[in-house]
Amino acid sequence: MTIRTAVIPAAGLGTRFLPATKSIPKELMPILDKPMLQYVVEEAAEAGIERVIIVTARGKESIAAYFQPHEHLEHHLLETGATDLAGKVRAASDLAEVSFVIQEQPLGLGHAVLTAEEAVDGEGFAVILPDDIFDASPGVLSQLLIVQQEHGGGVVSVEQVPWEVVNNYGVVEADAVAEDVHRIRSLVEKPAREDAPSNLAIAGRYILPPEIFDCLKRTPPGAKGEIQLTDGMAILLEDTDVFACEFQGTRYDGGTPLGLLRASLGFGLVREDTRDSVKALLGSFTIE
Ligand code: G1P
Repeated sequence: MTIRTAVIPAAGLGTRFLPATKSIPKELMPILDKPMLQYVVEEAAEAGIERVIIVTARGKESIAAYFQPHEHLEHHLLETGATDLAGKVRAASDLAEVSFVIQEQPLGLGHAVLTAEEAVDGEGFAVILPDDIFDASPGVLSQLLIVQQEHGGGVVSVEQVPWEVVNNYGVVEADAVAEDVHRIRSLVEKPAREDAPSNLAIAGRYILPPEIFDCLKRTPPGAKGEIQLTDGMAILLEDTDVFACEFQGTRYDGGTPLGLLRASLGFGLVREDTRDSVKALLGSFTIE
């Protein structure tokens, strides 16, 4: 299965970021100087993805604008000698072929993925949740592709989380088959803490065969009354192996303001051009 397409669900209202998300899509909020969404499209491009399908909602047109070339701005930057900045402006539109589908109703993550069925066109594909941002080398999607090539089937990234928070995630029950690779026996979306089969939580990257679409069509509403991708994968498991890959790297939760702040500090501390200033910045606080 060659994976050249990634689906990025980005249709949510971003309520945790209100009032900012009244007019700025959450996915365009920056980590330092770059929108969250660009981090994940870069991760996709690094993994060899050529086509990115963004599932979005009406009112979030600025996401499409972000991935268009901005000739006028580039021209101005080049004329004023700001070559580096012109390169940064260009980078977003050069990463991959980006297209959009609209999810008309917020019926859940599984439904958002199903909305992309026609655009995916019968191939295996990746799903990237843009709230989960990784500092990882190679990128987490590349790590998943290595597992997929070796074991086949579907693959999902997981990490061990504290038991107190398992109820926020899709959780897998799985048997180890290699270092950091497990064959999934069952999955459950947002289980009550006492019912969670493990603390291995799904972490926002998936490689799926096209059969997932038929499974999603048969998936009834689940947690929060929504059609969940996790529940669709539970149906997929009846006929297809799905593996969980414990990725190497650091995950940041870009879905909350504090998670985004932590991501900015974390990336700021590893980026050479910002490391010293971020250290000085952190040292400047007196914490009572
Ligand atoms: C989604 C998925 C969940 C996964 C999580 C990772 O949940 O439904 O299975 O563990 O992303 O971030 P959400 O965070 O959208 O509630």
